Amino acid sequence: MDRLIVTGGRRLSGSVRINGAKNSALKLMAAALLAEGETRIENVPRIMDCLTMAEVLEHLGAKVTWDDSTLAVDTTSALGIETPYELVRRMRASIIVLGPLLLRHGRARVAMPGGCNIGSRQIDLHLRGLESMGAEFSYEHGYLEASARSLSGAVIYLDYPSVGATENLLMAAVGATGTTVIENAAREPEIQDLAAMLVEMGAKIDGAGTTTIEIEGGGPFGPARRRVIADRIEAGTFAIAACATRGDVLLRDARAEHLDLFLAKLADAGAEVHPSAEGVQITMHSRPLALDFVTLPYPGFPTDLQPQMLALLAGAKGTSIATENVFESRFMFVDELNRMGADIRTEGHHAVIRGVERLSAAPVRALDIRAGAAMVIAALGADGTTEISDLHFLDRGYEDFEGRLAALGAEVHREPSMWPEASSG
Ligand code: UD1
Repeated sequence: MDRLIVTGGRRLSGSVRINGAKNSALKLMAAALLAEGETRIENVPRIMDCLTMAEVLEHLGAKVTWDDSTLAVDTTSALGIETPYELVRRMRASIIVLGPLLLRHGRARVAMPGGCNIGSRQIDLHLRGLESMGAEFSYEHGYLEASARSLSGAVIYLDYPSVGATENLLMAAVGATGTTVIENAAREPEIQDLAAMLVEMGAKIDGAGTTTIEIEGGGPFGPARRRVIADRIEAGTFAIAACATRGDVLLRDARAEHLDLFLAKLADAGAEVHPSAEGVQITMHSRPLALDFVTLPYPGFPTDLQPQMLALLAGAKGTSIATENVFESRFMFVDELNRMGADIRTEGHHAVIRGVERLSAAPVRALDIRAGAAMVIAALGADGTTEISDLHFLDRGYEDFEGRLAALGAEVHREPSMWPEASSG
């Protein structure tokens, strides 16, 4: 496995372009299955998760071609219904093809997901919602078998505003007979991006971005041309990296309106935050100040920035408290931070972070996508040279992370494995 070698103490400065959002691109790619013809999606990041989703689509019979960051998905002969374990286990978001497949073919066979090790992530809300629209499910040999003679509109109350469930239901509802109402829907900007693409394809959707989404079923759907919104999590990651190094970085194309609460917290930590037409400028002059934060569904503090924020607060002046409300067990990476001299104790879904003057380099692992980013941030501010292993997690979510950090002045490089990579299945 490759390792990232990071020598701390370099101040980040300059500008970095924020790529298209992973969590939006994946869903727009799945939505392409609803149209017959070629959909073009621009600003798709070249990360492992998007490459895996491209494989999922190809396995279903679609023709996928990349031209730089533009992806063409031709679904003319996409007649497959199965997403195999080999792909789903690499990325549990593959489950997002369930809604489109049920709508297009009345059947789907999707391996049960694995994915990030950040707690049990169930799909009961996806299934209950689809059931109330007429779908039936059974499990066989690790596969979810789904069928629906037809899908009909329903009023669906989500127990929790699940991002994936909202998206799956949205994609099934656009072609169902009659009206569907999703109550307690997730409000993430990526859902608004997906809804905008579906509308461009011919769907009738009202209320995306609010807690009640109303969908008037219709179809058929034509191909779309859509540009993926900027990745708010990548923007937040670079913002925190800038703060951890007392840097001065322009996050080009970042959208401040998608990061309201997060940017307010960075300001509480002592950062200067300047949104402009170009993006968001982040400047930090001194050691960060401690603060408390609580992760919540959008527009709350994003759980996908919790690990990176902990890495920053590990070196803050004072004691901070973080509460993780979205995923259980999302503090597993804390042990890795503590190996670098952090003083963090966790109790259930709370973490108490006693800021230390300086972290010290140590060999550490990237335990999931965002925990991996947190280790890089910790290393950028630490004393000495840190080696980070298990980089495949980082590669799932960040395109050329080390190259872009190096362009900002970080001392970082990738050391290729001396041994042949084990098969990732
Ligand atoms: C998406 C994002 C992920 C982000 C998360 C929350 C993608 C590819 N991933 O994941 O990066 O961290 O939103 O912002 O977009 N849950 C259930 N039953 C369900 C569905 C979810 O209990 O049927 C629970 C999960 O176990 C978890 C919580 O709800 O505790 C949030 O999950 P959800 O909002 O669905 O996140 P994802 O769509 O998986």
